[in-house]
Amino acid sequence: MNTPLIDPFARAITYLRVSVTDRCDFRCVYCMSENMTFLPKADLLSLEELDRLCSVFIGLGVQKLRITGGEPLVRKGILTFFQRMSRHLASGALKELTLTTNGSQLERYAPQLAACGVRRINVSLDTLDPAKFARITRWGRLPQVLDGIAAARAAGMRVKINAVALKGVNEDELFTLTDWCAQGGHDLTFIEVMPMGDLGNEDRLDQYWSLKDLRARLAARFTLTDLAERSGGPARYVRLEETGQKIGFITPLTHNFCESCNRVRLTCTGELYMCLGQEDMADLRAPLRASADNAVVEQAIRSAIRHKPKGHDFDYSRQTVAGQVTRHMSHTGG
Ligand code: GTP
Ligand code: 5AD
Ligand code: SF4
Repeated sequence: MNTPLIDPFARAITYLRVSVTDRCDFRCVYCMSENMTFLPKADLLSLEELDRLCSVFIGLGVQKLRITGGEPLVRKGILTFFQRMSRHLASGALKELTLTTNGSQLERYAPQLAACGVRRINVSLDTLDPAKFARITRWGRLPQVLDGIAAARAAGMRVKINAVALKGVNEDELFTLTDWCAQGGHDLTFIEVMPMGDLGNEDRLDQYWSLKDLRARLAARFTLTDLAERSGGPARYVRLEETGQKIGFITPLTHNFCESCNRVRLTCTGELYMCLGQEDMADLRAPLRASADNAVVEQAIRSAIRHKPKGHDFDYSRQTVAGQVTRHMSHTGG
């Protein structure tokens, strides 16, 4: 039995997020710039290489695999990749195979994803207003995403909605979103906007709506009970007693959750990022291509994990943006 992956802060790494493409069919304002330059296709790891890398991680104790992007469902052949990965569910090595998606391609893919053993998916949706949706995503159309969510439900998957809390943008939709999720039976998680990407500092502060404030507003209408249960990611959950629904809070700014971090991120070119909020990364593509022996890759992974930083340095508390990372969210998949 391989020794599990433990970082310098005694955190076991059991969750791998894999960004299978940096491309996306949307251009969300907090994630991408309008004119993105994407990686040349030749730089990408092939799906076979991604399979090999993920399988090595699973051999080292990774139990949860989340496929992200960019938008993961725009990567060609992605379904074959899910089909192949499902063997690790069947063997019991993997506890969860899932994805975070913008929902645009879900109508097409939902039944096949469910057939691969995907039981629960996270869909990014910040607003239910079509015009606002078009403004936030620049290129997206709301009905397509709503149809995708409906298809996921029809295929038997649970859907968690991820909404980035945006000051002056979706503040007025707090209860609309909450009610809509209650009616559809979706969990809902709010996320504080993180200073990533190449936008000017003022933009992020202008967008920032603290979840302390959001939670207080929810508490004015609902009775909130803190829940001990976790979904494996950074969200902390409450139950709204009046509706029974679950609401999550991802609070990189108001309440740092790094001490319980269990995850690392692999990009579509084989870079392993040890923290979303830091620049440290290790190249796994070279060792992967250098040898057919997985022991070489394992060594590279272990040595990278030995350098996992304590956490991010995002901070808006002095009315300026600190700890900013110029890398776009789409590079590492959130
Ligand atoms: P669950 O399985 O539902 O717990 O998913 P998750 O929260 O792990 O994944 P998801 O892709 O839905 O991520 C939601 C948000 O959490 C994204 O905006 C991520 O960027 C953010 N997030 C996830 N992990 C980290 C992390 O380690 N650090 C920070 N700062 N943010 C994170
Ligand atoms: N801050 C917080 N969340 C972000 N996401 C993308 N960019 C940011 C950001 N700057 C979210 C998306 C998606 C998840 C993967 O990351 O909305 O739900
Ligand atoms: Fe695409 Fe998601 Fe980034 Fe929006 S947040 S541009 S949907 S990768």
